[in-house]
Amino acid sequence: MKRSCWKVESERQVAYRVELVDDLLDPANHQLRNALKLDGSPSHRLVVSDRLVWSLYGKDVLRYLSAHNAECQVQLLDTGEKKKGLEQALAVVAACDAAGVQRRATPVLAFGGGVVLDIAGFAASLYRRGVPYVRIPTSLVGMIDAGIGSKVGVNYLGKKSAIGAFHPPHEVLVDPAFLRSLDHTGIASGLSEAIKIALVCDADLFQLIEADVDVLSSTFLSGASHQAVLTRSISAMLGQLEDNLWEEHLNRLPDFGHTFSPGIEMATSPMISHGEAVALDMTLSALLSVRRELLELDEFERISRVIEAAGLPVDHEAVTPELLADSLEWTVRHRDGLQRAPLLTGIGRSCFVNDIDAGELKRILAELRERLSIS
Ligand SMILES: NC(=O)c1ccc[n+]([C@@H]2O[C@H](COP(=O)([O-])OP(=O)(O)OC[C@H]3O[C@@H](n4cnc5c(N)ncnc54)[C@H](O)[C@@H]3O)[C@@H](O)[C@H]2O)c1
Ligand SMILES: [Zn+2]
Repeated sequence: MKRSCWKVESERQVAYRVELVDDLLDPANHQLRNALKLDGSPSHRLVVSDRLVWSLYGKDVLRYLSAHNAECQVQLLDTGEKKKGLEQALAVVAACDAAGVQRRATPVLAFGGGVVLDIAGFAASLYRRGVPYVRIPTSLVGMIDAGIGSKVGVNYLGKKSAIGAFHPPHEVLVDPAFLRSLDHTGIASGLSEAIKIALVCDADLFQLIEADVDVLSSTFLSGASHQAVLTRSISAMLGQLEDNLWEEHLNRLPDFGHTFSPGIEMATSPMISHGEAVALDMTLSALLSVRRELLELDEFERISRVIEAAGLPVDHEAVTPELLADSLEWTVRHRDGLQRAPLLTGIGRSCFVNDIDAGELKRILAELRERLSIS
């Protein structure tokens, strides 16, 4: 009899390096040359960046590539979350085509903040069903979060990251010197993701941030602890991502602060930053943890003090009980029918819950506003 059923099983091993590097764009430093598979013979690469980042560092990138005998085609994206859509991703796909990007041999360079990395990575996942790309994150969010995992994507239908892919980078090169030109909002946004990962799994990291938050939030690089905060945040984040790179498990601690924030981020006008939305979510989730007797009130106060000192908001007029409930509904679909909402059982400790209801959200928001009005 003819066989009519086949079972296909295959595993894909992924390995990529995330490396802290000094003087990344010094032509004498060969780390980027190696990552881009340049060998000194005449070659061509596609670079994707945004207009602001390129105005600051474009010359240095061009000088570096030219020193290694590489010409480049530059695709500049419009800056900002509002423009993080399919159109820009498809423009990068077209640029891949025009630049003659090959299946394996000519990695694309994504150079910028989280928005550039997400768009360029998504385009790289689409072109020829996936071409390699190297990430150079230039923002703090990029260095400790968006730039080091496997997820890429864009907003669609008014929904945050509604379309995307898992497309791990070929390599990630992190040079903290780029942070010198980042503004306060950018630094605060990055600190928000550092606080997030600290709260769910690294109490020592939280203490480090807490002890130096005033300096870290003004000019990150001058803080005595900036190096430790950067390396610990990357380690803690990779520790959470590595065993679950394809998100087989949907109970994810890095989702703390990301239960309500996707809806909040998209609903604000003018739009607040990703990290600001995460901060609003973390504050509410921490207070929710207190009301469920999982977290002590003084721990909540420490957390909200650090969030505010980092230059982040703990409340926003756009946040309503209805918005929180709608955001939760979208998140539940994303998490396969369950809330899987990370809450805190202490600083550096966490759990998941599945039973937050609209009434509880209304009470927590009212309590938060009452606390803020008397403090
Ligand atoms: N894929 C993921 O796993 C993941 C994780 C976290 C965040 N994200 C995404 O990342 C985005 C947020 O990242 P972001 O905060 O970097 O946003 P962003 O890329 O919009 O950068 C913020 C601003 O900083 C500017 N900038 C970047 N580097 C700079 C530098 N060195 N000097 C001066 N200005 C600089 C950018 O031009 C932009 O104006 C959101 O879209 C979020 O959804 C993705
Ligand atoms: Zn985030």
